[in-house]
Amino acid sequence: MTRHFTTIEQVSDQDLASIYQLATGPFDDSTLRGQGVALVFERPSLRTRASSSTAVSELGGFATFFSDDEIGLDTRESAEDVGRTLAQMYAICAARIRHHEVFARIASATQDQMSLINLLSDVAHPTQAVADVLTLAEHFAGGNVKELAGLKVAYVGDATNVTRSLAVALLRLGVDVTVGAPEGYQLTPGGLEDPGVVTAGGTLRVSDSAVEAVTGVDAVYTDAWVSMGFEEESAARRIDLANFRVTSELMVHARPSAVLLHCLPAHRGDEITSEVLDSPASLVWRQVFHRRSAMRGVLRWIKEEK
Ligand code: CP
Ligand code: NVA
Repeated sequence: MTRHFTTIEQVSDQDLASIYQLATGPFDDSTLRGQGVALVFERPSLRTRASSSTAVSELGGFATFFSDDEIGLDTRESAEDVGRTLAQMYAICAARIRHHEVFARIASATQDQMSLINLLSDVAHPTQAVADVLTLAEHFAGGNVKELAGLKVAYVGDATNVTRSLAVALLRLGVDVTVGAPEGYQLTPGGLEDPGVVTAGGTLRVSDSAVEAVTGVDAVYTDAWVSMGFEEESAARRIDLANFRVTSELMVHARPSAVLLHCLPAHRGDEITSEVLDSPASLVWRQVFHRRSAMRGVLRWIKEEK
């Protein structure tokens, strides 16, 4: 069966374990030899485009980049016809899209002929979550993701697509997750990639206090206050989220050994200060490093399909 990777939620524990293992294990360039990966970006990207392109190349494949200006998903032609076209030439389509439901529409239109990878949608950022798990495992567990159980992670700020995938991935590994966000910016129940429906593993807590959320945790994570698509709300968001900035004063409430994670791009002075982002506690560049490992893991898992 054709494998897709569009949320963490829809991948079994066993398959996730394979992805984590394949991400860091030895690899060769025959996995994708002669095969193409279409990289479709409806929104801007640096890390995701760089990590996808390099991982495809490392595994022996070739990547073609398509911006929304060129293909006009649902404007120049329907997402279904874009999918049908790409499926004639590419084994895999990895896409950053505005509306998550486009994945189901393409899967249906192409009768699952082509594997789909979510490179960020309005509800999930699963390849980022894989990189975040690898980063935490490297720091806290000698690379063994299974040993992350019992760790405490706080997410502070706007509960975004990144938060949802991160929380689902961590909870399923037995990590306790607390999301500190003001009213209106907290996790919303329902839909895909809902951490609230993870039944086994760590405990999910929510708090409307940043201090309460980070108290005693091993890691603090934050993301942009103004995600792509929310630019018109910038001014209001800066006011509403002002008490959820990750500062040195906030980090004092976490464990002394606590680390800092951020998916990037960072908005220094908004969700995080430079002092914290550039501090020894910051693992953000290891997260970037693991974006490529994560893509390798996902691509190799897709090509292992039964
Ligand atoms: N973290 C992340 O996805 O970065 P880009 O938006 O630059 O790809
Ligand atoms: N939540 C952010 C993540 C960027 C990598 C966004 O969607 O813009």
